[in-house]
Amino acid sequence: MVGRGRVSPNPLVGALVVQDGQVIGEGGHEGPGTDHAEVGALRAAGTGARGATLVCTLEPCSHHGRTPPCVDAVRAAGVARVVVGCLDPLERSRGQGVRILAEAGIDVAVADGPDELACRQMNGPFMTWSVTGRPEVTLKMAESLDGRVATSTGESQWISGEQSRARVHRWRADSDAVAVGIGTALADDPLLTARDVEGAFRAPLRLVFDSGARLPLDGKLASAGEGVLVIASANAPADRVRGLEASGVEVLALPGDARERLQEAVTELGRREVQSVLVEGGPTLAAGALEADVVDRVAWMVAPMLIGGDGAPALGGAGRARLADAWRLSSVEMARLGDDVLVTGRLREVPGSPSVEAGLG
Ligand SMILES: NC(=O)c1ccc[n+]([C@@H]2O[C@H](COP(=O)([O-])OP(=O)(O)OC[C@H]3O[C@@H](n4cnc5c(N)ncnc54)[C@H](OP(=O)(O)O)[C@@H]3O)[C@@H](O)[C@H]2O)c1
Repeated sequence: MVGRGRVSPNPLVGALVVQDGQVIGEGGHEGPGTDHAEVGALRAAGTGARGATLVCTLEPCSHHGRTPPCVDAVRAAGVARVVVGCLDPLERSRGQGVRILAEAGIDVAVADGPDELACRQMNGPFMTWSVTGRPEVTLKMAESLDGRVATSTGESQWISGEQSRARVHRWRADSDAVAVGIGTALADDPLLTARDVEGAFRAPLRLVFDSGARLPLDGKLASAGEGVLVIASANAPADRVRGLEASGVEVLALPGDARERLQEAVTELGRREVQSVLVEGGPTLAAGALEADVVDRVAWMVAPMLIGGDGAPALGGAGRARLADAWRLSSVEMARLGDDVLVTGRLREVPGSPSVEAGLG
């Protein structure tokens, strides 16, 4: 999708104009202030759009935002049919665009079942943020076949293969923010940027969950300064906080325990229009994020390697005592990345009611 990595806080939308089985116009939204996908596709189709079918992944908007309502452009283009992948997630506008087009005599169909779900999941960050005010949080980990992220001596680079690591850079580019715990920042000194990724994208905000503001001033993150946010506790030593701030790092000191700080940090990110967060571990933060119930999606990479011994497990914390309480994924998908296996799934479904709920099925 053309706007991936730079549309936020707008949705990721694609559109096609089809005439006699041929695609005669394509459009993709590229970010705030630019044309919506439908408008781009209709413009590309030109007068050929008359009597054609417009297919769009999200319901055409019916409101004046930074650009005029798409429904006006759709009506003006004279298309005969509109096929919508999923409805607008906001209750106040859900179904409006579809209704306006139907009232204009256009034959409108809204997808249902797996197609609707695929369109909604593609826009998980926008949908989640629009409905809940929070970003969609994806927990990513890479482990050995025996579930470890490091050897007994702490060696951890690299467990996943080249293709998996390249995929993580793609995910970083697609995310509004990337997060690690201070344990990982101290052990690996990561830069957390998206590197060797094709196409334009906005650099994600880099977050470190670090209650004591211990992030080393001579490390890569503090040296980068700008675009780095440390989530500290209200009791973090003032001199450490000042040192980080002098490096250009923003320190957000939050009250409460680790769980409350994590939850509040996610809420605060939502207020800042951060729609997607990629949590990259380590195991302690991963477990904390699950316990705090802020994880929406999981992306787990398994490398064909056995470590054994006292190597750190991929998930820290106390874990779940009963299988019935285990974090269980839905919408599970599997893919090969070189020799690694990637398993993705959801802990919370993407919000935004299916068309049937809006009585349009
Ligand atoms: N294979 C992988 O995918 C992967 C990914 C990342 C890291 N790693 C490896 O994992 C190791 C580091 O992991 P780690 O477990 O020691 O550290 P970590 O998970 O990176 O960081 C743990 C710290 O996160 C902070 N934190 C903030 N909120 C929290 C919450 N709600 N729950 C829990 N922690 C919270 C705490 O910092 P305070 O102490 O300041 O409160 C905690 O000590 C390294 O060896 C690294 O290479 C592997």
